[in-house]
Amino acid sequence: MTTAPVPPPGCPAHDSGQPVPLHTAQFAADPHAFYAYMRHHGPATPVELAPGVEATLVTDYGAALDLLQNPAVFRKDPHGWQALSEGRIPADSPVLPLLAPRPNCMFTDGAPHLRLRQAVTDSLARISDIQLSRNVERVAEYLIAQFSARGSADLLNDYAKPFPLFMFNELFGCPPEIGDRVMFGIGGMFDGVNAEQANQVLVQAVGELVALKRDQPGEDVTSWLMEHPAQLNDMEMVHQLVLLLGAGAEPLRGLLGNTLHHVFTNERFARSGLLDEALDDTLWRNPPMANYAPHYPAVDTDVAGHKVRAGELVMVSFAAANASLADQAGSNRSHLAWSAGPHACPSKDPARLITLTAIEHLLNELPDVELAVPEESLAWRPGPFNRALAQLPVRFGPVKPRASAQPQTQQPETPRQPQAPQRSVPSTEQGNAKRPGRWSAFLTWLQG
Ligand code: HEM
Repeated sequence: MTTAPVPPPGCPAHDSGQPVPLHTAQFAADPHAFYAYMRHHGPATPVELAPGVEATLVTDYGAALDLLQNPAVFRKDPHGWQALSEGRIPADSPVLPLLAPRPNCMFTDGAPHLRLRQAVTDSLARISDIQLSRNVERVAEYLIAQFSARGSADLLNDYAKPFPLFMFNELFGCPPEIGDRVMFGIGGMFDGVNAEQANQVLVQAVGELVALKRDQPGEDVTSWLMEHPAQLNDMEMVHQLVLLLGAGAEPLRGLLGNTLHHVFTNERFARSGLLDEALDDTLWRNPPMANYAPHYPAVDTDVAGHKVRAGELVMVSFAAANASLADQAGSNRSHLAWSAGPHACPSKDPARLITLTAIEHLLNELPDVELAVPEESLAWRPGPFNRALAQLPVRFGPVKPRASAQPQTQQPETPRQPQAPQRSVPSTEQGNAKRPGRWSAFLTWLQG
């Protein structure tokens, strides 16, 4: 006989019939207790993503696959979201940046989706594994050199967080002054600090990158996207690049952080070198994009018997769906961490390679690295979508960086010499505008 999971602490849903809140500290502290509770009550459950924003969350593996593979009924274009079009979503809701309509492949359906997605997948496919590994290794070497002599680090903020930003600047072919602002913009958007200004800085910088590559194409993803037979115009170019940055940077940071966490907290992986297995185990048990895949039914329908109305927001809990097949974990790669169906992540191979190489390099450089605090004291960032640590403090025997990799003076992620319009750059950054940002410092280091 199975026993019903007790409602997790702080969950009002049990007694009041209220939607389960996913934005609370209680949820961030133990999401799997919430998932078990929801799954016990059915394959789909009403949830609250933020105050005033409700959705249906699918928590069962089979029901999730059915939804993801039924684009005729479940649409991605948020123009079909009734609560949004009726003005019922607060304009300043923290979840809007990840849900509001944008003309990119994530938020389009049918032929327009196919055209944009083909351009994205074909351009990503041109990145060679050799080039990617080389880029990852030099970013790893540089970032590790910034802290290796200290004997301690916060691997989340010193390594996992900047890593994807450096990688994207490399892959997109960003020159120094544009790359500094891309890093500032994307970092600010995800930290929610001056998010609107950060967004403006990012869009401006990416717009300049597009103009630059139209003029001087190179061997980089920006130029390949531009050359694609889909013939993206400048506006489409900017939106696909911002999507690649947005859809890539945050989950990549999460995957690096969550896999490192898994390696440090599991004896089985700690010294075994079974990194591939540790990565797959993380994707099963602790996927960085935990709850997403926003969809809007075109007609009244049901999800495994749970009624949903046309225009309601329906999402998939990749984490809960994986957990509903717990006995499979680690044995194969049929988890839903990359989603499934026509909108599945087009970047899983490069994302895997980046994560594995970055971790391998770190463990090679700092062979005795270990967690510096008890596992229970680690905090996870709140939020309904991502599963990501706030910090990952570690210690290790100090290692002097090689002569070629001396630490740079740490610079904040500020844009250097912002080009017009000046108003798009936050005033606090204007004072720092003459200082090189982190991307410039990296490029200077690369040039020796
Ligand atoms: C190099 C880094 C990455 C890039 C450039 C990238 C890019 C993208 C893009 C463009 C999409 C939208 C595809 C479409 O709608 O047709 C997408 C979807 C997705 N990605 Fe990634 N991604 C990256 C890393 C990751 C990582 C590390 C994860 C987590 C393990 C992840 C999980 C997902 C998921 C679950 C979706 C589906 C979202 C949805 O259904 O709404 N991605 N990704």
